[in-house]
Amino acid sequence: MEEKIKSAQEQALSEISQAKTSDDIELLRVKYLGRKGLVNALFGELSSVPAQDKPKVGNLLNRLKIAVSSALDSAKGKTIDAGPAAAADSIDVTMPGRKRSLGRLHPLTQTLDNINEIFLNLGFKIAEGPEIETIYYNFEALNIPLDHPSRDAFDTFYIDDNSLLRSQTSTVQIRVMEKVKPPLAIISPGRVFRPDATDASHSFMFHQVEGLMVDKDIKFSDLKGILEIFVKRMFGEDTRMRFRPHFFPFTEPSAEVDISCIICKGKGETASAGGGKRCSVCGGKGWLEILGAGMVHPNVFSAVGYDPKKWRGFAFGMGVERIAMLKYGIDDIRLFFENDLRFLRQF
Ligand code: PHE
Repeated sequence: MEEKIKSAQEQALSEISQAKTSDDIELLRVKYLGRKGLVNALFGELSSVPAQDKPKVGNLLNRLKIAVSSALDSAKGKTIDAGPAAAADSIDVTMPGRKRSLGRLHPLTQTLDNINEIFLNLGFKIAEGPEIETIYYNFEALNIPLDHPSRDAFDTFYIDDNSLLRSQTSTVQIRVMEKVKPPLAIISPGRVFRPDATDASHSFMFHQVEGLMVDKDIKFSDLKGILEIFVKRMFGEDTRMRFRPHFFPFTEPSAEVDISCIICKGKGETASAGGGKRCSVCGGKGWLEILGAGMVHPNVFSAVGYDPKKWRGFAFGMGVERIAMLKYGIDDIRLFFENDLRFLRQF
């Protein structure tokens, strides 16, 4: 019996080693391991083996079965027709791995982080306020009475008679001053809303960063100094800045601030073959408007309970989209909100 088992194993292994296709192997599996196969037949003969030899012979038979079945399995992986069906139950270690694409921050978030960092390094603290505001914080406390013409441009989306989506982050000035005594220096980044029709340069929603500094002897030159540091760090050391008189109800005097065009460097034209060409970014003016600013109006101080004779301050407000568009040369504000990966992947 032992001999029989040994020669069956030799025969099986040699036949398996010669098998070429998976069909050959399946036939051999039936021949040896099938219900009517050789291994089962040998198990059948176990009953006629003397009792004392049964454990040993049984053990040999079990080993035969394991040897044949593992020889069949490994031969299957090597058959010449090992295609998808054969691969399904084995791992193909030669297959290239799946590439994970790395996410990145939205260009507006990157710009906002840049702006915040510059002011944090200058000692400003970040303060945030609600996007749904009351009429008092959005208008009255900012010295914009009900009949003021500038209210039109700020009349946004009303939630009820007394609350609306804020139209500027200047609201946060009021909320901070109500709670904190001067001296203080804060910036407040956040979303604002306007009743504007959407086009390449307007959006009903955009982001602003407000700045406010209050102390005993803050001067207009402090405002200029801080903003000069900001524009140089944001747009480069050779950036120039100018103030144009303007009007804001909550500052007096007020100004709009321009920087020298980052494309033509203030020349108004870009070099091209056969002479200069009008710069398309600044429209030939050489200057780009980037923010509004001024000295805090005494009425605003009174509204929050600061003595206007004792305290002075400056405030400024800038649009984050505008800064990002200038910094990266983007000509359509809508690109920021479309989530088109072809655009976003460039930053
Ligand atoms: N809130 C003004 C705007 O939205 C900007 C501004 C802020 C101007 C602070 C002056 C001072 O246009």
